[in-house]
Amino acid sequence: MEKLVISGPTPLKGEVEISGAKNAAVAILPATLLINGVCTINNIPNISDVRLLCTILEKMGAKIVWNTPNEITIDTRHINTTQAPLDLTSKFRASYYLIGAMLGRKGEIEVGMPGGCKLGARPIDQHIKGFELLGANVRTENGTIYAKANGLNGAPIYMDIVSVGATINVMLAAVLAKGTTIIDNAAKEPHIVDVANFLNTMGADIRGAGTDVIKINGVSELTGNKTYSVVPDQIEAGTFMLAAIASKGDLLIKNCITKHLESLTAKIVEIGGNVEDNGDSIRVWYSKRPNKAIIKTLPYPGFPTDLQPQMGVVLSTANGTSIINESIWESRFQYTEELNKMGAHITAQGKSAIFEGVDELFGAPVYSSDLRAGAALIIAGIAATGKTEVYNLEHIDRGYENIENKFRKIGANIERVSE
Ligand code: UD1
Repeated sequence: MEKLVISGPTPLKGEVEISGAKNAAVAILPATLLINGVCTINNIPNISDVRLLCTILEKMGAKIVWNTPNEITIDTRHINTTQAPLDLTSKFRASYYLIGAMLGRKGEIEVGMPGGCKLGARPIDQHIKGFELLGANVRTENGTIYAKANGLNGAPIYMDIVSVGATINVMLAAVLAKGTTIIDNAAKEPHIVDVANFLNTMGADIRGAGTDVIKINGVSELTGNKTYSVVPDQIEAGTFMLAAIASKGDLLIKNCITKHLESLTAKIVEIGGNVEDNGDSIRVWYSKRPNKAIIKTLPYPGFPTDLQPQMGVVLSTANGTSIINESIWESRFQYTEELNKMGAHITAQGKSAIFEGVDELFGAPVYSSDLRAGAALIIAGIAATGKTEVYNLEHIDRGYENIENKFRKIGANIERVSE
């Protein structure tokens, strides 16, 4: 078993480069199944979810060459099965994108029920509703999803819930469908725009991604033969922005799109942090104890749920009592119990948590319950006095590339140790 051992407190100082977006990459890789050709994707984050997806695609007949640690060339001309490896697909969430992509490419797919972070109930009813409106038949049996279609036809689809996954998945299924699909009440996250840009680069006709109405005119084929670069990860950028404040540091965060971070930037300024926005980089620095705040997570462009735990670390030592209302996931406050072991005073109940700001955090052994909780505990360990050990690194490695190296380069005293 591996753990991260952190000695703090250390103010983080210097420059950090942001990797490609996990949530874009884990959708773009399945999207390559729609291409009857070869394409190159760069700025791919080298994280375990991406490597797992590559293994799944290879088992389905794709040929993948890693040109560099962050660039692959993928040939999906010879996909030879409609069965995704069930043991692997049930390990993570984004395997659900294989359904939309394979319905489009082969009209059929068998895939394990998606796993992923335990953030509460994670239904996929909106994905299934979309596939069925396009003409597919979807059934679930013993943890396996079977989806089949005799040709998909474009249709108007109103999403009952704003869902990132359902929006992307239905977009994937609609790209090669006959006629026009209109997704209404679509999610607007930057990675939705990125997946649409990728598909359009490869020959699709998708308009309106990034607004709440997306129109997809079906095309007969995606030919590929192009190179695409994955958008920078706004959640990783936000993680370092909050690490700068929590650690009383000063960071220049490079290779990010600051427009994607506006809800976070506004909150950092509101609590008394300093921000210099340069468009493709952002400097964030601490000058005084943060003020209390009230935060509600919302779909983009609202405050992202995936930055809620990292913000929770900052608020745990703010001046006064803060409140976070989590409106997306019902079990996203598991990290607060770990922060309490470090001296925080947080009371979480259901989808709300009250943070009574304490003067400082103290190192302790802590367990990450999910990906972003893990990032939050690393930040807490860097800000805390004494030694922190962070366990359950498999969650963190799913979504952050070289996390301890990136933190070490900006001054953290952090070591990965095998037990
Ligand atoms: C994606 C992100 C995840 C992020 C989340 C919200 C990926 C791989 N993961 O997850 O990091 O936390 O967006 O920004 O991109 N819902 C339904 N029915 C559905 C689909 C969703 O009720 O069919 C509900 C969910 O339970 C949740 C809400 O809608 O309460 C939003 O979920 P969704 O946007 O779909 O999240 P994911 O795509 O799973």
